[in-house]
Amino acid sequence: MNTDNQFFNEQWQLYQKVLNNNYMGHQEIYGILHDFLGNYFQTPFSLLDLGCGDASFTTQALLNTLISAYKGIDLSEVALEIAQGNLERIPCEKTFIQDDILTAVNQLVKQQEYSFDVVITSFALHHLSLEEKDSVIGQIFHLLKPHGILIIIDAIRLSAEDRETYIKRYLNNVRQDWSLISSQEYAMIENHISTCDFPESQNTLSAIARKHNFDRYECLYEDDFETTQLLCFYKAGLS
Ligand SMILES: C[S@@+](CC[C@H](N)C(=O)[O-])C[C@H]1O[C@@H](n2cnc3c(N)ncnc32)[C@H](O)[C@@H]1O
Repeated sequence: MNTDNQFFNEQWQLYQKVLNNNYMGHQEIYGILHDFLGNYFQTPFSLLDLGCGDASFTTQALLNTLISAYKGIDLSEVALEIAQGNLERIPCEKTFIQDDILTAVNQLVKQQEYSFDVVITSFALHHLSLEEKDSVIGQIFHLLKPHGILIIIDAIRLSAEDRETYIKRYLNNVRQDWSLISSQEYAMIENHISTCDFPESQNTLSAIARKHNFDRYECLYEDDFETTQLLCFYKAGLS
């Protein structure tokens, strides 16, 4: 096994352990998402999943909904293969693209072939810089149909909090509450969060969305520690 694969597998196994113990709140968040999609869409809808990973929770959220087309984008080939298997339970058209979110979204806009009722990005947007988030949200607006929705599930800072303070606070929660995580696993989490996570505040994300002409937004979920949110940004219909 080469070093890259070994690194990926170790990170992947650790993420599965985090999901299995519901340390990031996926059970609650995706329960809310499932109810939201079921209530909001009374006719067939299409969904673009940016940074879909293995799509295990997206699959649960899409069960018994009117999803007609799913497109998943992720950098990881292995994750996309697992996602394909997980989504077999969902009877709809499915496509998967192995690419960076920024490049893929740019290409989809240029192609002018696709538009979506929902674009979701879950625990992936915080890997991008502020400028990249701004650019992606602007492009997503063009990929959404009238009345389309951008759903962001992610690490979110408090409005007056800087990145370092958020990360310290988050890691403190990990140390206190993620009881089945070993010290070696904690070191991996600390390293990942300190080097790869760039969360924004709800204010920053809503200002970006407003700048790109999203009509309104609402927060459907926030965890007790005020570290994670599910935000819906709505595009207006044709006037
Ligand atoms: C923490 S996982 C989240 C997976 C899933 N969406 C969830 O909520 O459980 C982050 C995923 O985003 C992918 N990812 C991170 N940065 C990316 C980028 N710039 N372009 C595409 N995928 C990316 C990773 O490969 C990984 O599968």
